[in-house]
Amino acid sequence: MQNVMITGASRGIGLEFVRQYDADGWRIFACCRTPGQADELNDIAASSNGRVTVHQLDVDQDASVAALKAELGDVPLDVLLNNAGIMGQRNAARGGIDYDAWGEAMVTNVMGPMRMVEAFADNVAASSQKKLITISSRMGSIGETKADNSIVYRSSKAAVNMVMKIVANDLGSQGVIATSFHPGWVRTDMGGSAADISAEESAGGIRHVIAGLSAADNGGFRNYDGEIIQW
Ligand SMILES: NC(=O)c1ccc[n+]([C@@H]2O[C@H](COP(=O)([O-])OP(=O)(O)OC[C@H]3O[C@@H](n4cnc5c(N)ncnc54)[C@H](OP(=O)(O)O)[C@@H]3O)[C@@H](O)[C@H]2O)c1
Repeated sequence: MQNVMITGASRGIGLEFVRQYDADGWRIFACCRTPGQADELNDIAASSNGRVTVHQLDVDQDASVAALKAELGDVPLDVLLNNAGIMGQRNAARGGIDYDAWGEAMVTNVMGPMRMVEAFADNVAASSQKKLITISSRMGSIGETKADNSIVYRSSKAAVNMVMKIVANDLGSQGVIATSFHPGWVRTDMGGSAADISAEESAGGIRHVIAGLSAADNGGFRNYDGEIIQW
């Protein structure tokens, strides 16, 4: 059986990853900030015969990540999916920057994935697939950006892409495949109802691409449909 750990599994794309890996029979460590309120996630876990377990995790908090590591020990993780993320401040532009919100975005979107890497890199390296995935955003592509706003979210996703590149260089010799993904513009609480694609299509596409990743893909940045995105 393959193991996957998913952060931000309470709703949106993260919850959809849980649904789809569950349907494929994976062992899932589904992490969320407030398990007591994650009704849909708890329902999936309840009907999984213990294959899907729900774990409290706030990626902003050292103690929360450390507690999860202590709980899970050396369990191999074929796929670690850093999915949890926040917008911080929508449409942040010169003249109206909320610096507290910017700080929160950096803590969750940049330091959160790194905290998870520090705690669980050995678990990924000990697995058979060794895939370390962060859900970033095309909005973090410096090469593509023509925008003059959304500096809070864009800069956090550009920064986490650099984190992932360094992690790829660091862990590649252990066979780890570290990849950033753009999930598309997805109809979730974050993406809104006017977005292009469903969470089902996004998670399905990313899962398909993850399944085909090989060592040559370490350190890449992909769209949910597999397209390579420029940094
Ligand atoms: N939707 C899009 O169009 C889009 C586009 C590009 C990239 N993305 C990225 O895709 C990922 C998932 O987005 P989404 O659309 O599914 O967003 P969402 O519907 O807003 O869900 C965000 C998830 O992240 C969790 N989360 C937030 N802060 C957390 C923290 N400190 N610790 C643990 N969990 C935390 C939330 O938990 P709670 O329920 O506890 O709040 C929730 O489960 C994010 O990284 C986002 O930046 C989304």
